[in-house]
Amino acid sequence: MTAQSITLIKPDDWHVHLRDGEMLKQVAPYTAQQFARAIIMPNLLPPVTTTAMAVDYRQRILAATQDYPDFKPLMVAYLTDDLDGKDLINGHQQGVLTAAKLYPAGATTNSSHGVTDIKHIYPVLEAMQKQGMPLLVHGEVVGDDIDVFDREARFIDDVMQPLLKDMPELKVVFEHITTKDAADFVMSAGDNVAATITAHHLQINRNDMLVGGIKPHLYCLPVAKREQHRQALRKAATSGHQKFFLGTDTAPHAINAKESACGCAGIFTAPHAIEHYAQVFEEENALDKLEAFASINGPKFYQLSINKDHITLIKKDQQVPEKTIDKGLSIVPFKAGEILAWQLQAD
Ligand code: DOR
Ligand code: ZN
Repeated sequence: MTAQSITLIKPDDWHVHLRDGEMLKQVAPYTAQQFARAIIMPNLLPPVTTTAMAVDYRQRILAATQDYPDFKPLMVAYLTDDLDGKDLINGHQQGVLTAAKLYPAGATTNSSHGVTDIKHIYPVLEAMQKQGMPLLVHGEVVGDDIDVFDREARFIDDVMQPLLKDMPELKVVFEHITTKDAADFVMSAGDNVAATITAHHLQINRNDMLVGGIKPHLYCLPVAKREQHRQALRKAATSGHQKFFLGTDTAPHAINAKESACGCAGIFTAPHAIEHYAQVFEEENALDKLEAFASINGPKFYQLSINKDHITLIKKDQQVPEKTIDKGLSIVPFKAGEILAWQLQAD
């Protein structure tokens, strides 16, 4: 018999872009409604690089999610070539900073302040290793000579492997993996290496984005790859293996910034994030593994407690709205206008 409802330990989202200002107010409640905690990406303008900035940003997030008082944003510092390592470690010791994020310079949205050469930040990474503070990586190598579809695989050889050789105890999350290469690498690495997987990379390949007309709302970074990679990601996510956990990388941009001659990268999955994942796990006959992926593997890696609350998803069609609109700001969600098979039950 196929499942008609499923109850899970309340999930966490280990990779979220909440933005700031009016955008923050519009998008944050979607995440807070479904997830107990979320790892908040620091790629604002200017980026969140200090403990003090993270404290302020956390306040703004809490204000935007006041209807969900149990929601806990977990803050992340954005690593730059000249970041103050002392402040970073202090921020972690005080419980303000959960992790630090490595954006290779130029890799993605607001990454111009990112790290130009990982060697520049070796002293900071060594301090993080000692402290047990996780490093979250946007795993793409950027260069004029590197094909955009090869950026992730190249990152493994050029950056990840040498880094882990030099710092074998560093806790690393390979964020939003998109290739079989990355899934295999994470599986073969030590327990200190894990990965997040987005709902959209489980659902789309590059044909979905490019065949029959270019679909700007399916453009994200790392860009979706060939079908064989999507299949490898589905296998990894639905395996229940502790190295893989939920991270939506929901990345909202205003509609005009997406539907543009030079459209921004990012897919807005937040409104139905957990339902998108449920659909994939059901298709793979692995609904029994969804709880491990969404609610258990992440906190285990971060050495945090597993949530006490539960959520229930019911098998009931619902239509994704064409757009979410607030104060004149419109955002097109993933699968806009389409029917989803699962629905999160209201509290
Ligand atoms: O598609 C993406 N959008 N990938 C990223 O790495 C950043 C994100 C954003 O901030 O828009
Ligand atoms: Zn991201």
